[in-house]
Amino acid sequence: MYTQSGELVIISGVKIKLRPKFLKSMQLRIVVLLSLFAIVSSVLLKGLVLKNSEQRSVQTRTADIQNQCTILCNQLVSSNYLADTQSEVVNAELTQLSNIYNGRVVVINDEFRIIKDTYNLQEGKTIVSEEVVKCFKGKQITNYDAKSRYIEVATPIVNPESMQVAGMMLVSVSTDTIRDSVMVLRGKADIAQATIIIIFIILAVFIGMLLVRPLKRMTRSIDEMTEGYGENYLHEDAYNETKQISDAFNKLWDRYKVLDASREEFVANVSHELKTPLTSMKVLADSLLAQPEAPVELYQEFMGDLSQEIERENKIINDLLSLVKLDKRGANLNIKSENINELVERILKRLRPLAATRNIELVFESFRTVSAEVDEVKLSLAVTNLVENAVKYNKEDGWVHVALNADHKYFYLKVADSGIGIPKEETEHIFERFYRVDKSHSREIGGTGLGLAIARNAVVMHRGAIKVYSEPGEGTTFTVRIPLTYISQ
Ligand SMILES: Nc1ncnc2c1ncn2[C@@H]1O[C@H](COP(=O)(O)OP(=O)(O)O)[C@@H](O)[C@H]1O
Ligand SMILES: [Mg+2]
Repeated sequence: MYTQSGELVIISGVKIKLRPKFLKSMQLRIVVLLSLFAIVSSVLLKGLVLKNSEQRSVQTRTADIQNQCTILCNQLVSSNYLADTQSEVVNAELTQLSNIYNGRVVVINDEFRIIKDTYNLQEGKTIVSEEVVKCFKGKQITNYDAKSRYIEVATPIVNPESMQVAGMMLVSVSTDTIRDSVMVLRGKADIAQATIIIIFIILAVFIGMLLVRPLKRMTRSIDEMTEGYGENYLHEDAYNETKQISDAFNKLWDRYKVLDASREEFVANVSHELKTPLTSMKVLADSLLAQPEAPVELYQEFMGDLSQEIERENKIINDLLSLVKLDKRGANLNIKSENINELVERILKRLRPLAATRNIELVFESFRTVSAEVDEVKLSLAVTNLVENAVKYNKEDGWVHVALNADHKYFYLKVADSGIGIPKEETEHIFERFYRVDKSHSREIGGTGLGLAIARNAVVMHRGAIKVYSEPGEGTTFTVRIPLTYISQ
């Protein structure tokens, strides 16, 4: 099981460091893996080849000896050697066999007595062993002792007339020469193995470099893009994977550029909006200063205008602060279960005086009692802006209908008015910050162009949706849909 760092593995309680820090590099990992592969496979291969060649040598040697023994045994019978061991020809042949294979030849008669031993060690002695007994049953027996390194061949001497086993010949031959040639082979194999491993390591370094190179190029390009120079987009098509990363990165980059542009536009708009009331204030103050003898009435009038501009400046700053608070991702929402009917009633009560100034009818249609998990302050901000707009962009003696409904999942708020409406092509922009359809009219009414941006942000923070339907000259309807239970990210 890997721990979070991915570097430890725990097998039955024993901690083993599996991925040391230096293996974090892809290139190194490729080199280490390929080298390990080369070492393991070459060791296995070498072992297999050496073992096989040793086995084959032993097999051929054994077969050779078997042949020689069979031939010699026939000769022993024909020269009646078992009865008389004085035959010089046969003795010479036995000695020759012993010399060729650097081994010992023993001839045993049917009384299990050794009648000839080329090493002259046990002549005259009796020998009874498992092999001897088996051999006397007429079977040729071979045996290879890998530990003590010798081959043993026991051949029965059969009388061709009676078909009886009259004795046996036991040959034991050292395999040291085979071992020596295997050692020579092993030396050569070691050199071959080392060469293969070195070639593999060089190959691995090369492959690693080849694989990692596009990634390094990508990092460099991204660094350059971040610094603000170099290409405008990432083009790394070496592999499908790097192409996919490039494409994904370019999308992100596009999005970043759009965001950056909108941030710049926002800052420009904010400066402009904040400067406008200040410019008016300066003009008012300057013109008063230019008239030292100005009558009190003029002073009072200008001061009233100044106060209005200050109020406007204040409103813009307040709206901006609300917006900034709502703009922050994951801004602190103070979610509580609220009675939405009461929340809307409170807002309408606050706005009734404003509606009354132009004799606008403000109606609340509530289809059921709705309680939902919302941030009361932020949702109120949104609803207030919608109802305020419906009143502000209305006709004399008009109406505003606010309707609240819900199903098992969402509640729906509808704010409809009989106002001036919004032209089709403008509806997609009205939620943008500082966007106003009719700038002079809106300014006259006291708008900042931030209200709908605030409303939309507040709704989106509740994972809701806001939509607008409008017919110029007839009226506008805003619909808001918000989940009854708050869905956290
Ligand atoms: N109910 C409405 N009827 C007509 N026009 C509207 C309505 N609500 C908003 N608008 C238009 O959308 C613009 C943006 O609205 P908003 O963001 O609230 O800014 P403002 O501060 O100007 O009210 C307004 O300037 C107005 O032109
Ligand atoms: Mg508004």
